[in-house]
Amino acid sequence: MRFPEYRPRRLRKTEAFRKMIRETHLDVSDFILPLFVVEGKGIKNPLTSLPGHFQFSPDRLVKETREVVESGVTAVILFGIPSKKDAVGSQAYANDGVTQNAVKRLKEAYPELIVITDVCLCEYTDHGHCGVISHGDVDNDPTLDILASVSVSHVKAGADMVAPSDMMDGRVGAIREALDESGYESTPIMAYSAKYCSAFYGPFRDAAQSAPQFGDRKSYQMDPANADEAMREVELDIDEGADIVMVKPALSYLDIIWRVRTSFNRPVAAYNVSGEYAMLKAAAQNGWIDGERCMLEVLTSIKRAGADLIITYHAIEAARALQGASMKRSV
Ligand code: PBG
Repeated sequence: MRFPEYRPRRLRKTEAFRKMIRETHLDVSDFILPLFVVEGKGIKNPLTSLPGHFQFSPDRLVKETREVVESGVTAVILFGIPSKKDAVGSQAYANDGVTQNAVKRLKEAYPELIVITDVCLCEYTDHGHCGVISHGDVDNDPTLDILASVSVSHVKAGADMVAPSDMMDGRVGAIREALDESGYESTPIMAYSAKYCSAFYGPFRDAAQSAPQFGDRKSYQMDPANADEAMREVELDIDEGADIVMVKPALSYLDIIWRVRTSFNRPVAAYNVSGEYAMLKAAAQNGWIDGERCMLEVLTSIKRAGADLIITYHAIEAARALQGASMKRSV
């Protein structure tokens, strides 16, 4: 049927009609909020390139997380920044490490909150790479044992789920095996499966003090030009036991999110990364765009592309915006 018989505008006439045929719905349970934790007491360092975000010491983290819980956000992902870094990132698996302490305290204060931990070495190594170095490059297999110990220590501290973001080959299998051997067979793994070597991680590396001190991450993170390779990465992670697979970043990779959604039968997460957030905030602060509308449009596009979960620095704001919208509708 064609115009004039078919007129798509008929169903766009009123908000009630638009809502009736709306295909994508954001929900507060879609969001995971990243949080940065440092050692010490009483610390709340604002992050210039991530407006509205901070590095917290564990005590402040517990206090400030009340706001997260009250906004309705149900999950956070923790990034720990230790005061002492070394070549193998030993603070990453220390039982009293910064992340382990933060997890314990958060779970004590908010048992219902889903606490996920990012599993990687770049915040913990003095060279800033995501694994141990030999002959000038990241050495894959020796890194696997360390990542497995890190994961077990996080879960021992109370983490509800671990999220390896290092991009070593075989790490999901190594982590699954270690968790199972330690009796944590019911703890899920959210794998950063298709993680690209992206320039959009800039503000995060300031926040997590994790920029590589030499070279770059091209020998382990994916080339932005590749899509078929992302399918192979996701397939491997699923074979090795990933419960949730992730695409990262989100906005320049919506096609990858869509392909993962349609090719595999696993929940899909997308990481709306620091540079994507900072870009939107900077434009909004300049008055060049409507920040709230653009945020909701961005998050909707990620969900429409096929993500079930979105890791986003907008989580609290988005939760409030959704709540505001439902209040408006009910009056
Ligand atoms: C650690 C890690 C990074 C991000 C999440 N985990 C940075 C990196 O790979 O350099 C980036 C998140 C963001 O930019 O918001 N490997």
